[in-house]
Amino acid sequence: MKVLAINGSHRPGHNTAAMLNTVLDEVKAEGFETELIELYEHEIKLCKSCNKCLIKPECSIKDDDMAMIIEKLLAADAIILGSPVYFGNVSGIMKIFIDRSRSMHMCKNALDGKIGAALTHAGLRNGGQEMTQMILERFLQCHGLHVVEARDPETGIFNGGPLGTMFDSMAGENIKWKKDVSEDTLTLKTCSSLGKNIVRVLKQK
Ligand SMILES: Cc1cc2nc3c(=O)[nH]c(=O)nc-3n(C[C@H](O)[C@H](O)[C@H](O)COP(=O)(O)O)c2cc1C
Repeated sequence: MKVLAINGSHRPGHNTAAMLNTVLDEVKAEGFETELIELYEHEIKLCKSCNKCLIKPECSIKDDDMAMIIEKLLAADAIILGSPVYFGNVSGIMKIFIDRSRSMHMCKNALDGKIGAALTHAGLRNGGQEMTQMILERFLQCHGLHVVEARDPETGIFNGGPLGTMFDSMAGENIKWKKDVSEDTLTLKTCSSLGKNIVRVLKQK
């Protein structure tokens, strides 16, 4: 079984990556194969809306890294998408990736039946995480994936999300910010719960 995580942050290795790696750690601990793709480290050109993927299930853009990423998506049993919130939405590179996935969707849903999950990270406490999460999960559903939530299979506890924030607390009138997601115990715990739930569902397959 292979679990593929896709990071849409324009800052590889930061908060969103740490959240995805926390999910993958749970999966790895069960002996599944894992991989994290940092979209920002790859060349992914804009969809040019040529509509050729309506006739044939392939993309007319061949000279970038999307074909390699599509191979990995097709080989994965579970796909986890992570995006920081940019203006209440997914990041720019994540949206480009979403649009370029159309060749796997129009003739037939090539990813149909796989397990999917999403997570987000934002600066503010209520910075658009829920909207961004819904956009990612809706995208996965469009492709026919079964979206798994972050419910801990042992305790049944669901903390919502995983939706991370830099917000820590109020210090008088001022906001105190976390250094990074490593100080956000609840978010990392929710990421672990998601990983455990993905393992549980994959073992049922
Ligand atoms: C272009 C841009 C737009 C952003 N928009 C929002 C926003 O709408 N709401 C919010 O809370 N944070 C916003 N942020 C902050 C990021 O979501 C936040 O820094 C997040 O932790 C980045 O994730 P990363 O560490 O994985 O890169 C924005 C950041 C950038 C660069």
